[in-house]
Amino acid sequence: MSQASSINVPGYEQVVRYEDPANDLIAFIAIHDTVLGPALGGCRMFPYTDEEKALEDVLRLSRGMTYKSAMAELPYGGGKSVIIGDPRKHKTEGLLTAFGDIVDSLNGSYITAEDVGTSAADMETIRRRTRHVAGLPDKGGDPSPATAWVVFHGIRAAVRHSLGRDSLESVTIAIQGVGNVGGHLADVLSLAGARLIVTDINESVAHEDGARTFARVVAPDDIFDAKADIFAPCAMGAVLNDDTIPRLSAKIVAGSANNQLAEDRHADALMERGILYAPDYVLNASGIINIYYETPIYDHQAAFAHIAGIYYNLVDLFQRADSDGISPHLMADHMAEERIEAARRGIPLTDKIAAVG
Ligand SMILES: NC(=O)c1ccc[n+]([C@@H]2O[C@H](COP(=O)([O-])OP(=O)(O)OC[C@H]3O[C@@H](n4cnc5c(N)ncnc54)[C@H](O)[C@@H]3O)[C@@H](O)[C@H]2O)c1
Repeated sequence: MSQASSINVPGYEQVVRYEDPANDLIAFIAIHDTVLGPALGGCRMFPYTDEEKALEDVLRLSRGMTYKSAMAELPYGGGKSVIIGDPRKHKTEGLLTAFGDIVDSLNGSYITAEDVGTSAADMETIRRRTRHVAGLPDKGGDPSPATAWVVFHGIRAAVRHSLGRDSLESVTIAIQGVGNVGGHLADVLSLAGARLIVTDINESVAHEDGARTFARVVAPDDIFDAKADIFAPCAMGAVLNDDTIPRLSAKIVAGSANNQLAEDRHADALMERGILYAPDYVLNASGIINIYYETPIYDHQAAFAHIAGIYYNLVDLFQRADSDGISPHLMADHMAEERIEAARRGIPLTDKIAAVG
């Protein structure tokens, strides 16, 4: 049986520290906001060096989930959980079921899912104790094709706004990382007539992809200097920084990688160079969109139609960012806050999804 102690954090609905010595479990759950719906967010297991760092992470991540769901027009709030420990050494069935009991004690105000250090199979174990768990192995499956589909529509919206055209025919796109998402993205883009430049630290993956999509393959570091209209980061975070931004010739940055900006100020650095940035948290919302459509059985068509609706979201976002003279990154935050405020006042979310069908 775990002991729960509430922590008062201004701006958050509920933050709780749990400790269950019998199962070596110390966890934090943060529910940032439930105005749009129950707080959805993964369970991260990581060997944090101290509890303060774990708390910092759960607060930052749960707040991010509120914004991500709002921008994806989903009826979810933002939440997250973290378990302190090395998943390779400390993850036991007892720990996971004890965590399931904790989630259940919140009566559905928090829905958990997989994240760094936890898997879909772990969610199956957690499900033995609670039904408030998503992203199960028999549901949506690998989210990468869906993620590539969001990025594709994000690129279309950015091209519409920045280059004033609807077609991707002959537009040059440099993709960093052609793994699960980047590989699928390269396939769709090449079918849409784009010219591709690709790179990957795994040379054979890069060359296989290049052969399949008629792409030019470059060395990993050269991707920042590639003469391209669009740079699509689909590998790792913090790739938009003081060193790389001045090297980009692209007019658009749109990719799936998490936390692409090394720091928030790099959104302004991109804007100063006339580069349109499609905010990463809007483009990698596929996981939560898939979760929304996973019950009772995964509805692939509805999920992909919802994703296509992100195009309109982004077109709107880019226009508003321009007219307010702020970066799309900051405008995305403003729009998410507006949506939450509207819901608080009882105004339903707009249904742009229906327009895509
Ligand atoms: N898979 C998803 O559905 C999903 C959803 C949301 C966000 N993301 C994010 O998108 C990114 C890609 O995810 P993925 O599932 O395709 O991962 P992945 O591991 O399948 O692919 C990443 C690829 O990038 C390559 N890579 C790593 N560092 C590189 C570098 N410095 N230069 C060039 N290539 C490099 C790797 O070799 C690999 O082939 C990650 O940041 C991930 O967090 C993925």
